[in-house]
Amino acid sequence: MNLFLSSLLLVLSLNGLAQAADSPLGDPAVGQTKAAVCGACHGPDGNSLVPDFPKLAGQGERYLLKQLHEIKDGKRVVLEMTGLLNPLTDQDMADIAAYYTGQKASVGTSDPGLVVQGEALFRGGKLGQGMPACTGCHSPDGAGVATAGFPHLGGQHADYIKKQLTAFREGDRTNDGDTQVMRTVAAKLSNKDIEALAAYIQGLH
Ligand code: HEC
Ligand code: HEC
Repeated sequence: MNLFLSSLLLVLSLNGLAQAADSPLGDPAVGQTKAAVCGACHGPDGNSLVPDFPKLAGQGERYLLKQLHEIKDGKRVVLEMTGLLNPLTDQDMADIAAYYTGQKASVGTSDPGLVVQGEALFRGGKLGQGMPACTGCHSPDGAGVATAGFPHLGGQHADYIKKQLTAFREGDRTNDGDTQVMRTVAAKLSNKDIEALAAYIQGLH
């Protein structure tokens, strides 16, 4: 593991620990009821069928909760969700996050023409350019590291992944913290790299 990666990991996991202390504990059964309105886009069990709408099933609780707070506060802009989270309390969001975390994520299929390039990038990074492998934070099977807030990626819609990587690269998504970890990684990715990674991730499990 290179120095860039190991120091980032340390900062990110310390951040995670600090956040854990003041969040309320979520109740998944209560969360299921509160998530009824979300199902129209994200699927009733969090396995959305629309490639632009992310799957939430099986996603790490810490990551989900962070996104919910940041979408609510406008730190991450999701036009489709404008105003939707305003009535929700911290407890509501914790319950909803607990519900989706407990659901089983569905897996898609990888485009066979892109899988070799996608896998090489995901597992090997671009060492010549100092870009670490994705596996260091998102794990080889794409499960992520829930306790550190590194999101689960495996099985996610390719269109959604592609949109996020492009948004990090272009600076349209900036909620990856002071370390700018994903903006730094995405800066090294060409459109073709992003296409291949997204295709690979959709079938990864
Ligand atoms: C009208 C459709 C729609 C509805 C309803 C909706 N969302 Fe979303 N949601 C989206 C879209 C689209 C995105 C991704 C936006 C982007 O591309 O960055 C998203 C992103 C998210 C994310 C970030 C996922 C990730 O992997 O980073 C979370 C968490 C989320 N929504 C939770 C919810 C919850 C909870 C509700 C219900 C209270 C809800 N959404 C209702 C469309 C919707
Ligand atoms: C040093 C750790 C690290 C490395 C290496 C890394 N990521 Fe990430 N990634 C993160 C973190 C942390 C987040 C969550 C940012 C946030 O809180 O919004 C993230 C978020 C993402 C997201 C958004 C997920 C969602 O549901 O919206 C995608 C897609 C992603 N990473 C893909 C990749 C790919 C592809 C690579 C390799 C090219 C990679 N990451 C390398 C730490 C990392």
